Parts: sequence; C-alpha cells; structure tokens
Amino acid sequence: MNAPNNPTATPEALPGHPFIAYRGDALHVEDVALTQLAAAHGTPLFVYSKAAMLAALGAYQRGFAGRDAQICYAMKANSSLGVLQVFAQAGCGFDIVSGGELERVLAAGGQAGKVIFSGVGKTRAEMRQALAAGIGCFNVESEAELDVLSGVAQAMGLKAAVSIRVNPNVDPKTHPYISTGLKGSKFGVAHVDALRIYQHAHHLPGLQVVGIDCHIGSQITEVTPYMDAMDRMLDLVEGIEAAGIRLAHIDFGGGLGINYNGDTPPAADALWAQLLAKIDARGHGAKKLMIEPGRSLVGNAGLCVTEVLYVKPGEQKNFCIIDAAMNDLPRPAMYQAFHQIVPIAAKHSPAPAAAYDVVGPICESGDWIGRDRVLSVAPGDQLAVLSAGAYCMSMASNYNTRGRAAEVLVDGATAHLIRERESVSDQMRHERLVQPAG
Ligand code: LLP
Repeated sequence: MNAPNNPTATPEALPGHPFIAYRGDALHVEDVALTQLAAAHGTPLFVYSKAAMLAALGAYQRGFAGRDAQICYAMKANSSLGVLQVFAQAGCGFDIVSGGELERVLAAGGQAGKVIFSGVGKTRAEMRQALAAGIGCFNVESEAELDVLSGVAQAMGLKAAVSIRVNPNVDPKTHPYISTGLKGSKFGVAHVDALRIYQHAHHLPGLQVVGIDCHIGSQITEVTPYMDAMDRMLDLVEGIEAAGIRLAHIDFGGGLGINYNGDTPPAADALWAQLLAKIDARGHGAKKLMIEPGRSLVGNAGLCVTEVLYVKPGEQKNFCIIDAAMNDLPRPAMYQAFHQIVPIAAKHSPAPAAAYDVVGPICESGDWIGRDRVLSVAPGDQLAVLSAGAYCMSMASNYNTRGRAAEVLVDGATAHLIRERESVSDQMRHERLVQPAG
C-alpha cells in the first residue's frame, strides 16, 4: 500500500515491480497507462509486461551462463497463448501437465522437443498425443505409469524418454497446498523406492531412461530447502549410476517464490550460483540441467485492473466491492494469499482513507481479494491488484456465470490484446437444452 497520493510525485517504479510505475497521475505498465487500457477494454483486465517476463527469464539465463541447461516454463502458471509466445520466442521449453497444454505450446510456436510432461495422472490418450508430437521427456510419477507408458510407446514402435520424479522429502516451508516434496504427498515416488523403480524402468522395452526429476513445492523463499533437495537428488543420482543406469539430465523443478508482500526470495541467478557450486563440488557439473519455473517468470509481470462498484460501510468492517472476484483472482480464497492493491490514478482521491475488506460480487464469503487495506476510494475509482501474472487467469473460472477477463500484453508503448473478454454466449456455447421426446 505505498501508492503515492500526491500528484507531483516523481515517476517511480513500485518496489519489486520495475516495469510498473506511476508516471504523473497514472499507473503505467511499461509505457502504457492503465487508465487508457481500462477505457479501451473494460475491467476486470489483466495486463502483463513483456519486459518484466524477459527480465525474470534473464535472471535464470545468467545463472546458467556457460552451462548445458534448458529452462522449461511451467505453463500452468499462465497458459495464455500470447504469454507462451513470449517464452517460445525467447527459446524456452515448456513443462506441461496435460494434452491441452501441449496443444497450446504448439499453437504458440513452441517446440515439442523442448517439452517435458509432468503430472500424476497422464492418460493413455495424452501419452499417445505427446509421443506423436515428439516431446522431449516424460516426468513419470509412479511405477504404474511407467508400465502404461512403456506399453503405449511400444505399440507405436517408439521408446519414450523418461525421467522419474522423486520425492526428496524436504520441507519447502510454504503453504501446505503448494508443498509437494514431502512424504505423504501424491507426487513423485518415494526416495527409498527410487533405485528399485529406476531398475524397473531400465528394463521396460518401451522406455529410455534419460534423467531424474524433482519439484518440492511453490512460492519457496528460502535457499535451504533447495540445497537439501539437491543433496538428496545427487545421492540418488550416484546410486542409480552405480547400478549402471546413466542419467543425462537432472530436472530440478520450479518453485522459486516472488515478492507478494515483502517476501524476499533469492534471485534466480544467486540461487543457481549456490546450487551449481554444490553440483560441481559433487562432480556432476557436466550433466544437463533442466528447470521448470512458473510463478517466478510471470507472477510479478502481471496485474489485474478492477473498478470499485460500491463502498459499503458495515458495523464491524467497511467493504470495498470491486468488479473482479474470486473467479478472476482465486488465490486469496484458495490459499489466503496476499496481493497488493493500489490505485491506478495517483491523484489525491477526495474520499477519506479507511480500512476496507476488498471483495468481489460473488455470492460467497470467501470471495475476498484483500483484507484490512487502507484505501481512499469511491465508486468508479480503479485499482490494480498486483502480482497477478501467475495462477490467476490460468485458474480463473466462470463461477456465477462471470466471463473470464480480457488480457493485454504490453511491449514498450504498444499494447496487444491477447485475449478478448469472454461473453455469456461463449460460456453457453457447449450447453444444450433437453429436447422434448418425439
Ligand atoms: N513443476 C511442477 C511439476 C509443478 O507442479 C509446478 C507447480 C511447477 C513446476 C511450477 O512451480 P512454480 O515455479 O510456479 O512455483 N496455484 C498455486 C501454485 C500451484 C503450483 C503447482 N505446481 C498458487 O497459486 O500459489
């Protein structure tokens, strides 16, 4: 909540958001004023900065300079075609979790050979689709899946390249819903079973073992869980290779956090400097490295512009009712997540400052976007919900028959509409009334 209320404030990027700044009276994404975008496209509206995405990617690229490494954007974070196109053009691969995501990668110009397919529940049809497209690797999450994939590949006269996702059993110290690397998680195979399962995979006729994989959770802001996981993975690499199974790559997953509310995750290059030092010290520096970052590439590159509909004083609380809701921004309802909320006009609002719960129009008490936020707001004012580039639009729903918002990608002074606002007829297109019999 550090938006300037003073019209003479000098242009200044918001802390942690180098491509989002107040210029004169208006909040800008790169060189485009959000007031203009809201007037042109309406609200709620997601706006992304291409430069911010490329800067976030650049930190990883610097971290891997001179190494054999492949960055596979975990597209579940934001799978809009215009966003995928940015990463495809920048040379990224993609981490997918469904056949639908594979179709999106190909539609956005991504290369199948740089795709890795994660997820605990791949169907045979998805396996066939991915093999036919020629994806780079399957991250297999169970012994049963290995058997099915081998059979599917054999029937197609192919060998599927696989790595097995191992659960290193380290605590990523994040929200329980986004912790994945602990015992008791549905993901991956147990560390103690990994060698036996690798030996099984090695003998299956439709598979070629190429790597090892882990992903310990999301919104990780500490280095230690990563260092511990790397040690656990390298222990296994050594055991598996001692058993005569060569591993060409180590896939270390994603999970690096972003600054939502004063969080201080390590920078991607600094984190990787430490991890690479460990890998080198243990003699595995020549192995190919793969990673699957999602949130850290897009989260702080995006925001959601929304309009204040009503201000409602209550007995215990004041409510600021906005036109974005939990169907657009599901993270507060799902994870009690914090997103900063700032005005898009920096001019002094005549409304007195007060503490509000910022809520949407959906008929659920869980439909809140921010709690106890001090704002000077009146109906018609527009606000920006920050850090909305990841896990917002990709998790958006049509609850309450609300159309999904439009999306704009800003590149310098140019704004590209990358998704039109969804209409009610779009939503009803696949539905049918029951026809009377006869
Ligand atoms: N790789 C795998 C296998 C994953 O499951 C995930 C995320 C990633 C990579 C990317 O993780 P990231 O770098 O984005 O942390 N909806 C939640 C986050 C769910 C993450 C699911 N898996 C949220 O809004 O916080």
